[in-house]
Amino acid sequence: MTEDRLLLATTNRGKIRELKKSLRGLPLKIESLDKYPEFGRYRETGRTFEANSRGKSLFYSRRYRGLVLAEDSGLEVEALGGQPGVYSARLSGPRATDEKNIRKLLRVLAGVPRPRRRARFVCVVSLARQGKIVKCFKGRVSGYILTEPDGRNGFGYDPVFYYPPLRKSFARLTAEEKNRVSHRGRALKKVRSFLARRWLQPPG
Ligand code: IMP
Repeated sequence: MTEDRLLLATTNRGKIRELKKSLRGLPLKIESLDKYPEFGRYRETGRTFEANSRGKSLFYSRRYRGLVLAEDSGLEVEALGGQPGVYSARLSGPRATDEKNIRKLLRVLAGVPRPRRRARFVCVVSLARQGKIVKCFKGRVSGYILTEPDGRNGFGYDPVFYYPPLRKSFARLTAEEKNRVSHRGRALKKVRSFLARRWLQPPG
């Protein structure tokens, strides 16, 4: 049945890993975009996480028969007035890599004292089906930007994102620990209970 499929509208390996882990156990066949190159690529032009997340889920839901889950996420740094925000993936330019982005971030924050290194990760997840938004979910997590990378787990800015409650950078957390507290994990927890409650149960 097509209803029982869910497409993760991303090709980011780090995100796919975390999303699959968070959705594990739901009675849905979970697929990712790698399998559907013919769908083309959505160009993120929105100025907010929500606009990009909604746009992406709608775009793929017009091509895929089943539920589509898209997310847009990024880092907001206080000293930078909330930047890089929706531009997090491209902070160091069009050929950005995680390492280059981290180097650039540390360069622009050189000399900035700890209170102003406050930052948060934000994630907006959208579910869409047949060209219509089903619902959007948000998750956030606050921390600080370190002065040098620490740890090797995760992806993106994880090595420079320090999470005070666990006294570790995100790159020192296990996948389970990160999913429990991260912006994505928090949004996905809401997605999970929504799907389990409203979507996967037959109307009574
Ligand atoms: P986009 O949602 O594909 O535009 O990319 C979001 C970018 O934000 C990623 O490429 C990372 O640089 C950053 N980002 C989002 N979530 C995380 C996370 O959980 N850890 C580290 N970096 C993240």
